[in-house]
Amino acid sequence: MDTVLSFIDRERARFVRELTEWVKIPAISSDPAHAPDLVRNAEHLRAELLRLRADKVEIWPTAGHPAVFAEWMKAPGKPTLLVYGHHDVQPVEPLEEWVSPPFDPAIREGRMWGRGVVDDKGQVWIHVKAIEAFLETVGALPINLKLVVEGEEEIGSVNLEALMTEKAKDLAADVVCVSDTAMFGRGIPSLCVGLRGLVYMEVIVEGPRQDLHSGSFGGGVMNPVNALCRMIARLHDDDGRVAVPGFYDSVVALTEAERAEIRGLPFDEPAWLASTGCPALHGETGYSTLERVWSRPTLDCNGIGGGHQGEGAKTIIPARASAKLSCRLVPHQEPEEIEAKLCAFLTSIAPPGVAVRVVRHHGGRPYLAPTDHPVFEVAKRAFAKAFGRPTVFIREGGSIPFVRTIADATGKPCLLMGFGQPDENAHAPNEWLDLENFHLGVKSAAHLYDELSRL
Ligand code: BES
Ligand code: ZN
Repeated sequence: MDTVLSFIDRERARFVRELTEWVKIPAISSDPAHAPDLVRNAEHLRAELLRLRADKVEIWPTAGHPAVFAEWMKAPGKPTLLVYGHHDVQPVEPLEEWVSPPFDPAIREGRMWGRGVVDDKGQVWIHVKAIEAFLETVGALPINLKLVVEGEEEIGSVNLEALMTEKAKDLAADVVCVSDTAMFGRGIPSLCVGLRGLVYMEVIVEGPRQDLHSGSFGGGVMNPVNALCRMIARLHDDDGRVAVPGFYDSVVALTEAERAEIRGLPFDEPAWLASTGCPALHGETGYSTLERVWSRPTLDCNGIGGGHQGEGAKTIIPARASAKLSCRLVPHQEPEEIEAKLCAFLTSIAPPGVAVRVVRHHGGRPYLAPTDHPVFEVAKRAFAKAFGRPTVFIREGGSIPFVRTIADATGKPCLLMGFGQPDENAHAPNEWLDLENFHLGVKSAAHLYDELSRL
C-alpha cells in the first residue's frame, strides 16, 4: 500500500485538474437540450477508463441518458466490488447567485466550486483515481472491481431498473459501494446506513376554459388557485404530521438504541440551522432534527404555479393551478403504497367546482443497510487508515434509487461511503468539494479495495 499511497500524494494536483475538465461538461439530465452533453460526459469517462486498461469498458445506452460500465476482473479468488456513481448533474438556476460559473470550476478556500463537483462527479473520480493508483504502481487491483456510472440519477433513475435487469450478469458482485452521500462533518469518516425513498407527483387543478375577468365572474365560480391552496393546507396537521390517511401505516419506528446512537453524534444544530438561512427550525412534534430528517417521512410542495405571475396587478380568475408534490419515504413505506394513498386523498379533498388531475413522476425506494454484515468492519478499517479517526454511522434524508434496487436484486450489502459535506450546496448555487476530503477519499477507496482483498 505504501507505493499506492505515495502515488496518490504525488499526483494529487493532477487528479484535481482532471476533475475540473470533467466538470466543465454541463451534463444536466433534466434538460433535453443537454442530452448531447450527457453523451460527451459518458465518453469522457469512457476514455479515462480505457486509459486505465479496464478489461471491458462499455457505454450502456438507455431510453434516456447513457450509463458507463467498466470492469477489472483479474484477481481470481478475490471478492468482486461493484462501485456505483452518477455522471449527471442538477440544473444550475439561479445562475446569478453563483460566485464563479458552474461549468468553469474555480479553486478557492481549498475547495473546488462548480456543478457536480461533489454530486457526483468528484466522488466518481475518487474511485477512478484509486483504481489508477493501483494500476500505475503495483500494476493490478487487489480485488475484482466493476464500475457503473449512471446518467439519470438526478431525474429519478427512470430507466435503471430495465438496465439492471438486462445487465444483471455484468452487475453481479459480492459487495456494492456507492459514494454519493455526505460525511457527518469535516474529517469525520461516515458510513451512511439509511436512505429515504421518494414519490413525486404533480397535482393540476382546472376551472374555467380560460382566465376569466374576476369582476364579472369572481364569486360565481371556484378559483383553481384558491382551491389548490385549500388542498395543500390540508396536507399537514398542526403537529407537522402528514394528514394523508394511512400515511404512517408502514413506517418502522426508530429503536431506543438507534435514537441513542443519533443523540450521541456531535450534531451542531444552530450551525445546521444557520447553514439554511431559515429563521427557525420546524418539524414533526416529538422528534429531534436528525430524527426528522433521517427517519421520518415527509410531504413537501416543491413548486406551485397558476394565475398572474407577471408585473403589476391583473384581475382574473385563473384557468388553472398546479403544484409539484413529493414525499420522502422511510422503511417500509413503498412508493406504490404512498402514491396511491396520496392520490386518493388529493382526489377526496378536491373542492367542488374544479377538476383535479394527478400526474405521477419518478420515485425511489428507501434503504436500510444490514450493518451486522462483516463488510461494515472492513469499511471502518479503510476509513480509519485514511482519516485516522473512527467512523460514525449516519443516515441521509436524500434518495439514491439504485441502492435499494441493487440490494433487492442481489441481496448484497451496500457501503455508502460518501465524501461530501453537509453544507456542500448540492442542488443549489455554489456547490463545492473539499479538496482535502477528495484526497483522503481517494486514499479511503484504495484502502477499501485493499481491505476487501483480505475479506
Ligand atoms: N447525492 C444525492 C443523494 C443525497 C441527497 C445524498 C442528500 C445525501 C444527502 C443524489 O444525487 C440525489 O440528489 N438524489 C435525488 C434522487 C431522486 C431524484 C430520486 C434526491 O434525493 O432528490
Ligand atoms: Zn448524487
